[in-house]
Amino acid sequence: MTTTTLSPLAQKTKDAPKAELHIHIEGSLEPELIFRLAERNGVKLAYDSIEALRAAYAFTDLQSFLDIYYAGASVLLKEEDFYDMTMAYVERALADNVVHTEIFFDPQTHTERGVPIATVVAGIERALAEAEQRGLTSKLILCFLRHLSEDDALATFDAALPLFDQYAHRLIGVGLDSSERGHPPSKFERVFAKARAKGLKLVAHAGEEGPPSYIYEALDLLKVDRVDHGVRSIEDPALVTRLADTRVALTVCPLSNLKLCVFDDLTKHTLKALLDEGVAVTVNSDDPAYFGGYVNENYLATIEALRLGDDEVYTIIRNGFEASFVTPAERDAMIDRLDAHWRASA
Ligand code: ADE
Ligand code: ZN
Repeated sequence: MTTTTLSPLAQKTKDAPKAELHIHIEGSLEPELIFRLAERNGVKLAYDSIEALRAAYAFTDLQSFLDIYYAGASVLLKEEDFYDMTMAYVERALADNVVHTEIFFDPQTHTERGVPIATVVAGIERALAEAEQRGLTSKLILCFLRHLSEDDALATFDAALPLFDQYAHRLIGVGLDSSERGHPPSKFERVFAKARAKGLKLVAHAGEEGPPSYIYEALDLLKVDRVDHGVRSIEDPALVTRLADTRVALTVCPLSNLKLCVFDDLTKHTLKALLDEGVAVTVNSDDPAYFGGYVNENYLATIEALRLGDDEVYTIIRNGFEASFVTPAERDAMIDRLDAHWRASA
């Protein structure tokens, strides 16, 4: 076994308290758990071994990933499946010193297989309530699948209405994910207006594969509080200035962008350029079971590839707390913890 010595900055980053703001819980499903749940539920998979499934994780773009990601999620049927999946993520997050996480889930992936949204949320919530006892706070964000129609999203929103009340402490927002190209944010203006009227937080994937115009639409039409990915904003200087001035954060996922060929090399990632321009970038894992790393691996790979310095890493971690959907008092307490750690390990 080889042991790698970490640089002092890498070690300090690993140990630092962090927030994660962009994680699809279905994307935390490791191949081993997919096979265990398939067996438990009598679901037939298209791959006959864990190794064969893992070998299929050679993606060429977002769609090539999504096809496998939805197939993986097909093993989730019962409340305890959602509990087990979430608990496995909780363990990984705690191991990476994540102290606050804001988790996406895709109800339409499950309702179309006959699993009620209430079952999905109950299983996730049970794990997150336990995580809270172990020092990990969390919020939950319901995402609409953008390759489906807005009417489908509206029906999903209506079906989830009682849950927004029942789980008001946890289920605090809506998001937009899945196939980006050809499905601009403007397609979902009405459902986001309804969510806004209900006082929910709003986020949307934009500018991952899609053009900067999709980021403008997310800001101007959906009125999002944060943009997920947003890395293609760099192509439009006026947009970069606007993001920097308004402090609308980008939840960036470097290893995801590498695996889905948004950048052909991590050294070409736009995160540092955006940071230099004053944009509130954060680092997150997206779908860690598929992209080769949880949050610490994303930080460490990015520090190395982009040669980030101490102040830059501090700013990125702090941005994660600043951009989170917690109360000002909770946010300040998390930043105090970060500051104490950062000062103590100079
Ligand atoms: N669903 C899960 N991961 C996603 C990603 N990176 N982009 C869009 N939709 C997703
Ligand atoms: Zn994502």
